[in-house]
Amino acid sequence: MSSVLTDLCRYPIVQAPMAGGASCPQLAAAVSEAGGLGFLAAGYKTVDGMYQEVKQIRGLTSRPFGVNLFMPQPRTADSAAIEVYRQQLAGEVSWYETPLGDPDSGRDDGYEAKLAILRDDPVPVVSFTFGCPSRAVLESFAKAGTVTVVTVTTPEEAQIAQSAGADVLCVQGVEAGGHQGTYRDDFATDQSGIGLLTLIALVRETVELPLVATGGLMRGSQIAAALAAGADATQLGTAFLVCPESGAHPLHKRAMTNPLFVRTELTRAFTGRPARGLVNRFMREHGPYAPAAYPQVHYLTTGLRKAAAKTGDAQGMALWAGQGHRLARELPAAQLVEVLADELDAASVNYAQEESR
Ligand SMILES: Cc1cc2nc3c(=O)[nH]c(=O)nc-3n(C[C@H](O)[C@H](O)[C@H](O)COP(=O)(O)O)c2cc1C
Repeated sequence: MSSVLTDLCRYPIVQAPMAGGASCPQLAAAVSEAGGLGFLAAGYKTVDGMYQEVKQIRGLTSRPFGVNLFMPQPRTADSAAIEVYRQQLAGEVSWYETPLGDPDSGRDDGYEAKLAILRDDPVPVVSFTFGCPSRAVLESFAKAGTVTVVTVTTPEEAQIAQSAGADVLCVQGVEAGGHQGTYRDDFATDQSGIGLLTLIALVRETVELPLVATGGLMRGSQIAAALAAGADATQLGTAFLVCPESGAHPLHKRAMTNPLFVRTELTRAFTGRPARGLVNRFMREHGPYAPAAYPQVHYLTTGLRKAAAKTGDAQGMALWAGQGHRLARELPAAQLVEVLADELDAASVNYAQEESR
């Protein structure tokens, strides 16, 4: 591991920030206490909601942790396309007896105000997704002693993040659960996502920064493979989502290994930006024509998804999951960190033995 990362965690295992409740302070603290690096997700939270979680985790652990922020999105969404989608969701409105939300309710996710708090009262790590912060923002965190991580999905994005002054890159493969952290959502790049092992090698040859690899990693042997490919550490979301400490909805947790849900796909149906989830009715029906309009579609469908969860209907929920979801193990987070570290160790030993033959 690079020294930036060894100062933060004993094992090369980061628990992914997961907006929507999964990566709560209890989960993040348990991972950090066990020698990994826990992350809070500030996305969709109010500024105060984010700060309360920061205070909470400080009461649970004195180990380093991170906070993840969503970058504000350019105002390019076509309002006519959002209106058409609103009409296409009419059947859902009557089925769940719930109105659609205001698509303009949370445009920039409180980005500036969240930055201000995290600079006033610095945390050990801040990561970003959906774009790259300005050089000035990254420098201000460097001054505050905060390590910055920028999510990238292509070598070109990696180059931009390095030039802007990021400390570490989170290299996200197309296997990843939840949103792809691409800088721009563009229909032209659909189906062009890069698999993690290939992406690590491409990015490793483009930039010199430490890399945290993420996407589809569920076992220590896969962590070993990512490290062998050139990553310095790994970040796991789906694997931690099912832990008892995770705040994910119980139906979401159960769906990971429910044989009803056999595969994942990238969809804009729930939020207007490609995100990987278990294929369910809502995705099948609305995915094919959902517009590229994030975060407007997120706010449009929030109430529907809550109503589906309330009535126990997993077919109407956003069941974010990586391609490895069937390998999920419902272990306490600290135990999962230990198991992953042991598996990593075993995989590395096997590799060394093979080499010495
Ligand atoms: C439920 C869920 C929510 C997520 N929310 C965020 C988020 O708020 N910010 C972020 O940078 N990544 C988010 N991600 C993506 C993760 O950071 C990570 O890239 C992904 O989980 C890796 O793939 P895996 O789930 O197969 O491990 C989320 C992933 C999931 C499964």
